[in-house]
Amino acid sequence: TSDLSSIPVLVAGKLHEHAIARIRDTFRLVTIEQIDPSLLTAEMRETVRGVAAAPVVGGSFVGPQFLQALPKVEIVANFGVGYDGVDAAYAGKNGIMVTNTPDVLTEEVADSAVGLLISAIREFPRAEAWLRAGNWVTKGHYRVTPLTLRERRIGIFGLGRIGLAVARRLEPFGLPIAYHNRRPVEGVSYTYHSSLKALAEAVDTLICVAPGGAATEKAINAEILAALGPTGVLVNIGRGSTVDEAALAAALTNGTIAAAGLDVFADEPNVPQALLDAPNTVLLPHVGSASVHTRRAMADLCVDNLVTWFSEGRARTPVAE
Ligand code: DGY
Repeated sequence: TSDLSSIPVLVAGKLHEHAIARIRDTFRLVTIEQIDPSLLTAEMRETVRGVAAAPVVGGSFVGPQFLQALPKVEIVANFGVGYDGVDAAYAGKNGIMVTNTPDVLTEEVADSAVGLLISAIREFPRAEAWLRAGNWVTKGHYRVTPLTLRERRIGIFGLGRIGLAVARRLEPFGLPIAYHNRRPVEGVSYTYHSSLKALAEAVDTLICVAPGGAATEKAINAEILAALGPTGVLVNIGRGSTVDEAALAAALTNGTIAAAGLDVFADEPNVPQALLDAPNTVLLPHVGSASVHTRRAMADLCVDNLVTWFSEGRARTPVAE
């Protein structure tokens, strides 16, 4: 293999420690504390000027300003499958390769979606808090859950790799499964709806696996939530930007829908107070893929993209744009 040790690779802010260790062993590691281009000091700008690659954590905003600070950058390797935080169109126009980490996290995130769904419906966090407060069902009055997974109609918004893995997991529950994508997916028997509205009208359980970005900004709005109906449940394991969070908090509070399970938020790490206050809501800090096993596999794929790019001139998993 080629000697890549003189190639400067920038880690701005946080990255998985296994990825950092591999970059340090293989390339010349350049670090700065944060990625926000408006906060780059003159000294930081000097440090990053020559870097050839920038692995970034999914969700960071990597736009023109950041990329312009790196005039020599050839590749941006996103740690995460979702790259809505990277301006891939701008990168493409400027000949910058963008990669992500698909497949290695599919099963983990699908597991999390199903866990979140059942947890929201059966209110496990409430039950657990009640036990920790010293209660037990035969001693006190435990309010049994009004919701159940039985007889539910499942709708998946975003039947991609992860959406399909969620659908496969739900098949043994014997529930009807429908979905909305821009186009029908070939070779699947789930019911297709050409609009999100039509999907929401046909189901009571909406699982959002959509990748985020401008096209789906606040797509899950008051109208969509109302269409789910009073037993409606929303699970979001995709991107927070897809949901109108104020409308969701209102829908939960007013009983327009019954429950929500959210792993992602529009303005992470900020979780709106209205959602923290809303009833029947299970909230997770964006941990869908967060097992030791899967995060390590993501770190490896992120760095493998850099290695193949600089040694063979091709990326392992370029984004589809
Ligand atoms: C992803 O892979 O897109 C997850 O959201 C982690 O960033």
